[in-house]
Amino acid sequence: MLRTQVGIVGAGPAGLLLSLMLQRRGIDSVIIEARDREAIEATIRAGILEQSTVDLMAELGVADRLRREGVVHEGTILRFGGRNHRIDFKELTGGRVATLYPQHEVLKDLIAARLAQGGRILFGTKVNEVADVGTAAPVIRFAGADGAAGELRCDVVIGADGSYGACRPAIPADRRRDFLRIYPFGWFGILCEAPVSSEELIYARHERGFALISSRTPEVQRMYFQCDPNDSVENWSEDRIWAELQARVAGEDGFRLKQGRIFQKNIVPMRSFVCEPMQYGRLFLAGDAAHAVPPTGAKGLNLAASDVWHLDRALGAFFADGSTALMEGYSAAALRRVWRAQHFSWWMTSMLHRFPDASEFDDRRQLAELELVTGTMPAATSLAQTYVGMPFG
Ligand code: DHB
Repeated sequence: MLRTQVGIVGAGPAGLLLSLMLQRRGIDSVIIEARDREAIEATIRAGILEQSTVDLMAELGVADRLRREGVVHEGTILRFGGRNHRIDFKELTGGRVATLYPQHEVLKDLIAARLAQGGRILFGTKVNEVADVGTAAPVIRFAGADGAAGELRCDVVIGADGSYGACRPAIPADRRRDFLRIYPFGWFGILCEAPVSSEELIYARHERGFALISSRTPEVQRMYFQCDPNDSVENWSEDRIWAELQARVAGEDGFRLKQGRIFQKNIVPMRSFVCEPMQYGRLFLAGDAAHAVPPTGAKGLNLAASDVWHLDRALGAFFADGSTALMEGYSAAALRRVWRAQHFSWWMTSMLHRFPDASEFDDRRQLAELELVTGTMPAATSLAQTYVGMPFG
C-alpha cells in the first residue's frame, strides 16, 4: 500500500507536467502509468507547442533540449488553389510563435526531470479501479509491473489517463455529459527518410482531400493525407502514397514534395469529444481523459498543459489552507479554453477537408473562407492567435 497527496493516473504530458508543478509547491504525488518507459519514449507523436506550453516548460526548468532542438515556426502555410498562402504568426500576434517539438521528446524530458527529483512514477502498472472518489479518501487499485496487486491512497486523484483510461468511467454516468462528433474521414500518416520539403508546415486543401506536410528532423519528415477511416495501411504501397501526396499539393507553382523511404504508416481516426464536468468529488480529469480534438491545428497536448495549469493553482490553494473554491471551479475554468480549442479544431478541419457529401456549393464556400482567412487581417489574426495560443488562464 502506498500513500501520497495527489495520485496521478497517466504519465502523459498532463500527468508529468502536473507532478513537476506540484513539486514546486512541496506537494507530493505518485504517477501510475500502464505502459513501459521505453514504449512511451519510442512512440512517435505529433508536435506543435503553443507559446504558453513552451513558457511553462521553461519555468519548470525542462526546456533546455527544447530550446536547442525545437524548431520555431513564425508562420504557417495554407495551400489551396494550387498556391501557398502564408499566415505570419509573429507579425499578427505581436511576437508569439509555435514550436515544432514532438510530444515523445517532451515526454522524455519530463520523465527524466521528474525521476531526477526523486519523483515516483510506477511504469507498467495497470489501474483496475479508481474508488471512493466521492469521499475525502479516494483510492487507486492497481496491478504492478510484477502482477502483484497494490493500492494508492491519496487526497485527490488526477485522471490523466487518456481517452480510454479508467478514470472518466469513475464519474457516475448520470453525473456527466459526453459530447461527441465523429468525422467521416481519418488521417493516413507516414514517416519517411527525406529532406525537408517546406520550412513551414503546409496545411493543404485539395479536391482529393486534405494533406499536411510536417517534419520531425532535417532527415525525417511527417506527412498526412485525409483518408477513409476504415481503410487499411496494407492497401497503400509506397508508390501509391507518394502519388496521392504529390497530387494533393500539386499546383501552378510546380511545388513537389521531396520523397524518401517510408518507414512508418498509420491511420488516425478523427473525433471531437468533451466530458462535462471534468470533475467529480476528489477526481479531476485532465487532457485526453476529458476531451479530444481532431489533430488539425495541433491543440491536444497544449490543452493538457492548460488543464494542469488550472489544477496546479487549485491544488496549491487546497493543500495550503484547505480552500476549495478553485477546485470547485476547475471544470468551468478549464472548459472555456477546451471549447475554444474545440471550435478551432473543428473549424480548421471543416475548412480544409473534403466531406464525402460535399457539393460544389460547399467547395466554393470553402475556398471563399480560405480567401478570407489568408487575405484579410482580422481573419488571419484570429487564426494566428488561436494557433500560437493565448496565455493560460
Ligand atoms: C503535426 C500534427 C498536427 O496535427 C498538426 O496540426 C501539425 C503538425 C505533426 O505531427 O507534426
